[in-house]
Amino acid sequence: MNRDMHLTDLRRRFPRDFVWGVATSAFQIEGAARADNKGPSIWDEFCRVPGAIADGSDGDVACDHYHRLESDLDLIAHLGVRAYRFSISWPRIQPAGSGAVNEAGLAFYERLVDGLLARGIQPYATLYHWDLPAELQRRHGGWLARETAERFADYAQLVAGRLGDRIASIATHNEPWVTAVLGHERGVFAPGVRDRRVAYQVGHHLLVSHALALQAIRATRSKAPVGIVLNLSPVYPETNSELDAAHARLEDGRLVRWYMDALFKGRYPQDVLEHLGMDAPVALPGDAKLIAQPLDFVGVNYYNPTVSSSVNAASPASSGAAVTDMGWEVAPQSLAELLLRLDRDYELPPLFITENGAAYQDEVVGGRIDDEQRRQYIESHLMAVADAIGRGVDVRGYFVWSLMDNFEWAEGYRKRFGIVHVDYPTQRRTLKSSALWYQALLTIPA
Ligand code: FCB
Repeated sequence: MNRDMHLTDLRRRFPRDFVWGVATSAFQIEGAARADNKGPSIWDEFCRVPGAIADGSDGDVACDHYHRLESDLDLIAHLGVRAYRFSISWPRIQPAGSGAVNEAGLAFYERLVDGLLARGIQPYATLYHWDLPAELQRRHGGWLARETAERFADYAQLVAGRLGDRIASIATHNEPWVTAVLGHERGVFAPGVRDRRVAYQVGHHLLVSHALALQAIRATRSKAPVGIVLNLSPVYPETNSELDAAHARLEDGRLVRWYMDALFKGRYPQDVLEHLGMDAPVALPGDAKLIAQPLDFVGVNYYNPTVSSSVNAASPASSGAAVTDMGWEVAPQSLAELLLRLDRDYELPPLFITENGAAYQDEVVGGRIDDEQRRQYIESHLMAVADAIGRGVDVRGYFVWSLMDNFEWAEGYRKRFGIVHVDYPTQRRTLKSSALWYQALLTIPA
């Protein structure tokens, strides 16, 4: 079969109204760290900690998207996507995390949303993609304080009140596991805390904040569907030893069931609670029911399976497996497996794949970037999504991570996830061959 037939075939495996998109987040692309009264976020501060970011970089300029909004909107439109997933920077809207709206900050997102709509692109907003106003961290210890959940609900209400009539979707949080575990247990992400008890209390408050925000958003006139975005993956034991199997089961509890059971069954998994003992979070009466309110959708971010070992602290990939530049195993069939499992174990609302993509060391040759590995990664994962849909899972959309190369958190600018290349010194954007392929796929009449 030639490549065009492949493309047509692939496209025809998806429903006509399937939502095709690309994704980014505020801190990773916007730059303009102090523009228009924006307050500092915990990521602005974390970047100043020596050794925290692999290349010593920060988000001060990033892709300078804040100042290049119109041309970036044209770029998104040029790709032919119907949807764009972005996040809103809380410290642009409320510089210190509470109080009146900073109109200049909000105006940026009004221009973004209106600019998308004018180009026929649906805005998919995420309220929290990790850039907590630093003031809330300083004053209350951030998410460790339940009060931060209340401030988050106020912020959610402000945004939904102003943009809710025009956005297609609102996600409260992006990947609460990452904020809790990488930010507060392992300390490799902002705010850099290493304390398991704190991490689980933070995780609980994130879910409480999600629930309070749901209520606050639904109290406005916003008609946008509301959901949450989780990073989920199958967890495989590294060997077939009993110990590794038990370890993998617990890891699945911490990564998948902790969030999914809380949101859809109204309880935390018993095995994880027992394992945590004194480190289990303190909850108020009524929290479990609050957290399990009905959702309009769940966003699934999937990159790689988790390999769990009772011996090695970190085993990111099965031995011999193909890996990306992050060292993450390429395993598209694990995505299909994950989707089928979620569908089997939970009463689910519609799902969206809100992130999927890969970092590779791209080479610019004669002004072109032929990122065949990334193209194959995306294609094979789309086939996995199509398989899951064919087997009855209600997946409504797919967003490539990422629109363009950007600030990859603790890795800085060294890891490139974009389907569009960014030359940081000139801020020139160049479509990689994966972007041209995605564009061709989306041009095929459904
Ligand atoms: C996800 C994040 C996203 C990006 C990708 C590679 O965990 O949500 O911001 O960094 O990983």
